[in-house]
Amino acid sequence: MRAHEAGWAHAPGALRGPAWLRQPEDINALVPILWSETAAKRDGVLSIGGVSLPELVAEHGSAAYVLDEVDFRARAAAFRDAFSDFDVYYAGKSFLCTTVAGWIAEEGLRLDVCSDGELTVALRAGLDPALLGYHGNNKSRAELVRAVELGVGRIVVDSFHEIERLAEITASLGVTARVMVRVTAGVEAHTHEFIATAHEDQKFGFSITAGDALEAARRVLAEPGLRLEGLHSHIGSQIFDTSGFEVAARRVLALHAQIAAELGHTMPEMDLGGGFGIAYTTQDDPSTPALLAEGMRAVIASECERLGIDSPRLSIEPGRAIVGPSMCTVYTVGTVKEVALDGGARRTYVSVDGGMSDNIRTALYDADYSATVASRASEAPAVLARVVGKHCEAGDIVVKDEFLPGDIAPGDLLAVPGTGAYCRSMASNYNHALRPPVIAVRDGVARVIVRRETVDDLLATDVGAALEGATR
Ligand code: LLP
Repeated sequence: MRAHEAGWAHAPGALRGPAWLRQPEDINALVPILWSETAAKRDGVLSIGGVSLPELVAEHGSAAYVLDEVDFRARAAAFRDAFSDFDVYYAGKSFLCTTVAGWIAEEGLRLDVCSDGELTVALRAGLDPALLGYHGNNKSRAELVRAVELGVGRIVVDSFHEIERLAEITASLGVTARVMVRVTAGVEAHTHEFIATAHEDQKFGFSITAGDALEAARRVLAEPGLRLEGLHSHIGSQIFDTSGFEVAARRVLALHAQIAAELGHTMPEMDLGGGFGIAYTTQDDPSTPALLAEGMRAVIASECERLGIDSPRLSIEPGRAIVGPSMCTVYTVGTVKEVALDGGARRTYVSVDGGMSDNIRTALYDADYSATVASRASEAPAVLARVVGKHCEAGDIVVKDEFLPGDIAPGDLLAVPGTGAYCRSMASNYNHALRPPVIAVRDGVARVIVRRETVDDLLATDVGAALEGATR
């Protein structure tokens, strides 16, 4: 919990904001930890990958997601190098498109998909199915058949029904499938309830404590068409406290050893999932891939020694920690409004040309973001502002609290960093909004890699007939 959740410090007339939100000394400056590697400001104009955002918006419009290719590749490479003795799977659910799937392969990472749609993107990018992992607690029969036929490297099973279904599919196709068993390690990860997955009372995995995980391994081993490759644990997302990973690793290794001892099968692999936290505000203090790797290696080595077993080949699945900081969203300010609050304070509401349709995380998880003016410097004193979207919902907030120049005005560009993970991938067409494009920037060149939706895209699925004589 951050200090701001404990309450606001109100002063009559002026809103001081939550205690953790410090007014920056220079409101025009970037806070490096929140921005991608090539982000820079000159005279108040923000550029990324050598592309000025005002010029980018002039050409491509706003709102737009801007993806720093150099930064993305550097983060992917940092995981690859720090975890050189692991397999690193990029979690495609955080953000996936054909170009990014290609970068992932070029940087030597594998890919984790969790639907036929994500699988299709991977194939379209030319990725080798043997280097894919397939997740999901309710994969359809058709999804499983396609994965098996393609020879997907690992299918992570999540229920007894799925084990039966997969056994039946492999038998009818006369092939084998490589399987991992998703287990619940019983760890309370310190994150939002909806993105924590290793405590017992939630939909993912087989419980280790209740014996379901051991039973799942037994059933997989009993099926001639299934090859049990290893156990899989993912404890949640946006996690800073690495003790959760350590406890989970110990519990999963203990089960790994138990399966070898009791079922006579030594599994070659083990996956410890993703979930590594990133900085959304100056309060967040993320670890580095190198430190994470060091910690995991030490725990695994000591636990293997204690159990008297060899370490399986390990893998991880970072999503947010690679793409999250690589992307920002640029918006245009449309209206500015001061709202009187109880006690005489006023809050400045800055409305932008996007909102919960391109970033649902603030509304859904009470997530924190920051923002900066991207089109000009300002000498005006800072005001505490709330950046809101254009949707018909009061909870349509992009940035809850941010100091912005007091002369913020329609036409200014605002950029929100850290929107790479779970923003475009969870974007919606609420209010028939058109989802923004993703524009990759590098060496002064802006390249559209996901184009802006059009009204025709929206209407393409609306197959109802118009009233007779209706005009368009
Ligand atoms: N592996 C598995 C099995 C997962 O379920 C996930 C995320 C990951 C890896 C990647 O986690 P990451 O490193 O990106 O944290 N929509 C939420 C996050 C949901 C995470 C779902 N699974 C959010 O916006 O925070």
